[in-house]
Amino acid sequence: MCTILAIESSCDETSAAVIQNSKILANIVASQQVHQQWGGVVPELASRAHQQHIVPVVHKALQDANIEKNALQAVAFTRGPGLLGALLVGASFAKSLALALDIPLIDVNHMQAHILAHFIDDPKPPFPFLCLTVSGGHTQLVLVKDYLKMEIIGETIDDAVGEAFDKTAKIMGLPYPGGPLIDRYAQQGNPLAFAFPLSEVPGLNFSFSGIKTAVLYFLQDRLKEDPDFIQKHLPDICASIQHTLVEMLLQKLRRAARETGIRHIAIAGGVSANSGLRLALQQEAQKRDWQVYIPAFAYCTDNAAMIAVAAHYKYLAGEFCAQDVSPMPRMTF
Ligand code: KG4
Ligand code: ZN
Repeated sequence: MCTILAIESSCDETSAAVIQNSKILANIVASQQVHQQWGGVVPELASRAHQQHIVPVVHKALQDANIEKNALQAVAFTRGPGLLGALLVGASFAKSLALALDIPLIDVNHMQAHILAHFIDDPKPPFPFLCLTVSGGHTQLVLVKDYLKMEIIGETIDDAVGEAFDKTAKIMGLPYPGGPLIDRYAQQGNPLAFAFPLSEVPGLNFSFSGIKTAVLYFLQDRLKEDPDFIQKHLPDICASIQHTLVEMLLQKLRRAARETGIRHIAIAGGVSANSGLRLALQQEAQKRDWQVYIPAFAYCTDNAAMIAVAAHYKYLAGEFCAQDVSPMPRMTF
């Protein structure tokens, strides 16, 4: 029997999960509302909110799992990538608990954990598979060879796709995080109403910084003629932006599938909750005979269940870390 407590605190979600063998017994997520009024995550406020939430969140996870602290075999935490001050809260908490209970400590890479969220429930992808990991800070194409053996074969050279969703939403006056709102309005709009340029980056890399400027200039132009343009056309604008971003992702995914010959394709990370991306991927699967893996909504955005699954495989591999380990805001793999 192996029971692990996992902590996630890389950005604006404080989360704790308990995993026993490979089964998630509890997954508690406390989202921070404090950032909304600032139009983005404020690092200092995030650290303070983690500090407030961490003890009650861990307490609730252990309670929901019906597990006593003394029954834990290891404590895991997100080492990076993420905000330094936010990561420090989770890392310090995990270290103290591991020290007090005299059990091993496991450090987890947040981006690998997003991918390993596919091993929480069935169907689980077989190795090797391709994963498009799309979040607020990252956009990566990953060749996943095994639970802990992954290679980044493409990534963004500037903004992440989640950032492109959030920044274009901000231009339209929508609150943070704008991604889910664009998704919601897009469902009532025409994706072909307005055309925005696709980026042209060679190979498997992405670029999302151009769309912000394209949307800004487009709106400035239209607002000159009609000051109510955004209010009148919000669903069509959102659907068109979403369509463009999804197409940019799919272009590279098709290319990666062609170049590697891999037909098992997964998506992960916050933006994998996007209904346009989920639908487009399913349509693509039918057309190209791909087997696609789309995570449950609860495991798309940040959560500790994914950290727990990654920790489970690291525990089995005997990959523990020392007590003097430090968080790595730019951790890669
Ligand atoms: O993985 P995540 O929770 O945190 C990071 O590690 O960054 O991803 C957050 C990102 C934000 O940019 C948010 O706007 C985006 O995921 N997001 C969405 C949707 N749900 C979350 N973007 C588009 N459509 C959604 N439904
Ligand atoms: Zn994330």
